[in-house]
Amino acid sequence: MKILVAGGAGYIGSHTVNALLGEGFDVVIFDDFSTGKRDLVLGGTVIEGDLMDAAAVRKAFRSHDVGAVLHFASLIQVGESYRDPQRYYRHNLGTSMNLLETMLEAGIKRFIFSSSAAVYGIPQRQPITEDHPINPCNPYGMTKSMVERVLQDYDRAYGLRFVSLRYFNASGADPDGRLGEMHYPETHLIPNILLSILRKKPALGVFGTDFPTPDGSAVRDYIHVTDLAAAHVLAVRSLLEDKPSEFINLGTSMGYSVLEVIRAAERVTGKPVPYEILPRREGDVPVLLASREKAERILGWTPRLSDIETILRTAWAWHRKSV
Ligand code: UFG
Repeated sequence: MKILVAGGAGYIGSHTVNALLGEGFDVVIFDDFSTGKRDLVLGGTVIEGDLMDAAAVRKAFRSHDVGAVLHFASLIQVGESYRDPQRYYRHNLGTSMNLLETMLEAGIKRFIFSSSAAVYGIPQRQPITEDHPINPCNPYGMTKSMVERVLQDYDRAYGLRFVSLRYFNASGADPDGRLGEMHYPETHLIPNILLSILRKKPALGVFGTDFPTPDGSAVRDYIHVTDLAAAHVLAVRSLLEDKPSEFINLGTSMGYSVLEVIRAAERVTGKPVPYEILPRREGDVPVLLASREKAERILGWTPRLSDIETILRTAWAWHRKSV
């Protein structure tokens, strides 16, 4: 029995493929390489295909004995989702609907979904528990919460079992140095800090120092991608053991402000970060912290590499060699 990983050549997908292979799973990667990269494929069988093409997905399920599907392939830029919501609804909903429809046709009933803290919208309390109201405040987050709604209905009606993993701020790189984070364009804080240090980008823009936080910059819950990948393996195992469907946050409950991350990057790299203070970015909330109690209780998951130094050290090792 194989595990099909849609978007397995992307940042989080490739780290998860690596973790699955390390645990002895037989993996099929389905990716169109629009944003995924061949360098990030370290093993498994690769199918180059478009998830919007139901016939291609059907063919993949006919050619392989797939026991569970992980869906990482997604458009992820919040700002772009405001400007071009059609693209986000079409892609993020279309790929998920095709996968689910063809899975059910093929009798595959285990699904792991890459969801996001963005489903919660403006947090009413911190750290955020999974029963916090769902109220996304941008089209990106809305696409994630709409798929979550579909999953609940498919579970009730068709017996589809899912784990929807709500990521907080995925960051860092494989400690072995073979995998790392690269998006085009890059919008995420940590790669942007490292690109500024490497002079591959102009000075880092700090988006707002007037938030109600101790130093005025926004606080986020950074989670090492290797810890994220480990949580996916545990989620696959829980579905293979016929455990019930779940929504689970993946974060550490520890927050760092943008200015704290900059200082930590200066310590880890030994280099100054050139930066300038800019106005807030549209849609950014002051603080986002995950409760990790449910991930620990249901999956038996503990973050091991998610302290900010390890995140930055592994990201830096990969960036300075690969970018
Ligand atoms: N930031 C900067 N300068 C940059 C990039 C980011 O100051 O060049 C700031 C942001 O304003 C934010 C923090 O750094 O305060 C983190 O920003 P990221 O873009 O790295 O991450 P976000 O918290 O905005 O987004 C993450 C995921 C999204 C997801 C969101 C949930 O990357 O996919 O969490 O709300 F939708």
